[in-house]
Amino acid sequence: MGHVLLNSIQFLGTTSNPLTNKEFRESLDLTYRLAIENVNLSEREKLHVDALRKLDEGFMGKASTIWERILQSHPTDPLALKLAAESYFYLGYKRDLKGSIERVQDKWSPQVPYWHFLFGMKAFGCCENEEYEEAERLAKEGLKHLRNDIWSTHALAHVYEMIGQFNLGAKFLDETVDDWQSCNLMSCHVHWHNAVFNIERGDHGRALAIYDAKIGPRIQEDPDNMLNVVDACSILYRLMLEGVDLKDRFCGLISTCENHANDHVYTFNDLHFLMVFLGSGHRVKARQFVQSIEDYLSTQPHANEYTMTSRLVGLKLSRAMLAYHEGFYEEAVELFREMMKEIQEGKFGKGREGLEKEMGPKEAKSGEGLFGAFQPSIKRDLVVVIGGSDAQRDVFAQFCIHASMNSKKPEHQSLARDLLQQRKIIKPISPLTDRLMAKLQSCTRDR
Ligand SMILES: [Fe+2]
Repeated sequence: MGHVLLNSIQFLGTTSNPLTNKEFRESLDLTYRLAIENVNLSEREKLHVDALRKLDEGFMGKASTIWERILQSHPTDPLALKLAAESYFYLGYKRDLKGSIERVQDKWSPQVPYWHFLFGMKAFGCCENEEYEEAERLAKEGLKHLRNDIWSTHALAHVYEMIGQFNLGAKFLDETVDDWQSCNLMSCHVHWHNAVFNIERGDHGRALAIYDAKIGPRIQEDPDNMLNVVDACSILYRLMLEGVDLKDRFCGLISTCENHANDHVYTFNDLHFLMVFLGSGHRVKARQFVQSIEDYLSTQPHANEYTMTSRLVGLKLSRAMLAYHEGFYEEAVELFREMMKEIQEGKFGKGREGLEKEMGPKEAKSGEGLFGAFQPSIKRDLVVVIGGSDAQRDVFAQFCIHASMNSKKPEHQSLARDLLQQRKIIKPISPLTDRLMAKLQSCTRDR
């Protein structure tokens, strides 16, 4: 099981691709060989190995189905529960993010090891399902049981973000930093939340100070931690959209992103790497990177979750970002509008029929786990299929707003207004939205 744990974490860390990483490939093959040789393997252990194989094939959704099978017979299996929850985050399966905990929570009690972690996990699931009051209650309950529980801290930060309590959120994280910053895996991400609070309230200096002190240095220490890397890219890109000049900071991330540019394991990561190539002004690198996604897709004999999300979202959004940074704002808007139209009306809404058309009947059968992600239930967040949280994907909403505002076409200006109004509905209290609305008004007046 140690091998399963190690390799599953490697997959869910989205750090490397066994197709290109020889060491990772060998580690996986060793795990499968040991599983075959060990006649004493339990049914539960065999299922964990099966789930690993699905991750290896590029079907995290299918792996999550196996972890749920394990949880049906072993509801307190912490590995199955945690891996399933992580997979739902990466897949954008919002309902399962909460549902996976709800399905087993009555079998957990304070006597079960790691019991207290369920509060933070469920709180995050509730938050992504817009149940903010319940999310806040659960996160605070989790912190009452364990003040160092970074998952509860993180869930509470998400609540404050989504309900527009940026001052309260920043104060909470500043005051509790000693409780959570030693939690290695997640602490950089919680600092990211604090930086986002500060960008929202217009304190770019404080956001940049957090980046320089708490986020940037971690990338130097551990450049293979993708969660930290995407957070670094995201903070810089958000600040750049706000008009802060950060070319040197972007340049500092180039080698890290280049080292993972050919991983092609997660569309969400690809889009963040692209932010660095674009933000640093290296348009040739940016174009080469987008070309590398196209080349990778054209050489893959079988569709999987990465190829699907890249074809339907990643590539179009990448091309829109390229166009924006080259000053072709109208083209950028048309590219992301085309993507949004397809998600709303086209392939995503057709269920099996649409999936089979894209992947062929055989792959569609094995990719049933994709259906949840492609349902058009995403009433406002059109790129949910690329995974991540509502707060993380907001950077793409901001990009679309900026592209529309910069376009000279009146219909694109109207779209910018619509997108800003949508953002206002999602987050009624948002100084960032107010700033952009004021900017749009002055742009419209000047034209
Ligand atoms: Fe988060």
